[in-house]
Amino acid sequence: PTRLVIDCDPGIDDAVSLALAIGSPEIDLRAVTTVAGNVPVELTTNNALRILRAFGREDVPVARGAARALVRVPRAHPPVHGSNGLGGVDLPPSATPPRAEHAVYFLASLLREAQTRSVTIAAIGPLTNIALFVALHPELIDRIDRLVVMGGAVGQGNITPVAEFNIWADPEAAHRVLTGSDLDICLIGLDVTQKATIDERGLAALRAGSDRGGLLAEMIAGYADRGPDGWPLHDVVAIAAIIDPTLIRTRPALIEVDTGFGIGRGQTVCSFTRSPAAGNGDAPHATTRTQIAVDLDVERFREMILARVAAGA
Ligand code: BDR
Ligand code: CA
Repeated sequence: PTRLVIDCDPGIDDAVSLALAIGSPEIDLRAVTTVAGNVPVELTTNNALRILRAFGREDVPVARGAARALVRVPRAHPPVHGSNGLGGVDLPPSATPPRAEHAVYFLASLLREAQTRSVTIAAIGPLTNIALFVALHPELIDRIDRLVVMGGAVGQGNITPVAEFNIWADPEAAHRVLTGSDLDICLIGLDVTQKATIDERGLAALRAGSDRGGLLAEMIAGYADRGPDGWPLHDVVAIAAIIDPTLIRTRPALIEVDTGFGIGRGQTVCSFTRSPAAGNGDAPHATTRTQIAVDLDVERFREMILARVAAGA
């Protein structure tokens, strides 16, 4: 199985992502790190612990990470995930505390013990922790097989007309990771995740599946991000694509992040590369080659979610 660390800000779609990882034999979930994003980091940490408890995996260590963005605290944003980050669902508290170390140091100690390219990271919140990690521990980058990020958009944004929330919440961190970290990155943005919806029938199937499915259905029903086809499970696409890479189609691209303080702040500017070698005048400041998701097999994605997240008690 793929050894996986999930860096997240639960968050309703983050909660479903944790449930999918837990319900999948292809994944060996080694740790969960948390970051400020949908709600403050105390709450995202608490939510991660509660979700792991609800899904019977209190053995997975949780480490609390960055409490704020690197350069500028983003302006207040609407509480899309409810005031507690889980659509108002009050999960029982976990008796397990988070790790004493900061998420970045915890990740470093985990990777120091790991073989070359043996750990995958899914980053499904703002990229603050990952940016700090690549800045502090360049010697450990080679332990990471791949970084799969939910973030960005080639087209329309969701928090501004051009910016997606995770990138907008810490553009400088995203810039550090996406333009010069030398990581092998797969970026899964809104162009694809907006298609990854679940509707009322899906929620009914979750409720019918198990108590755990019922909890997730209740959270999703409290999720303010809703389009005509239902609720987009953005983050879940990242985990699903790690489990089964054939669910998405990707193209190589160079990505730059707008870190200016104008209306473009947080935009991911994507140049689909014209030749295998970076350059050609495309995205002059980007050196990290990224695979960007351009399509999703929605039907197979939905089947995977319904078959797996409600598994267990
Ligand atoms: C992203 O923003 C958050 O609200 C979701 O959890 C997801 O990570 C979607 O733009
Ligand atoms: Ca998230």
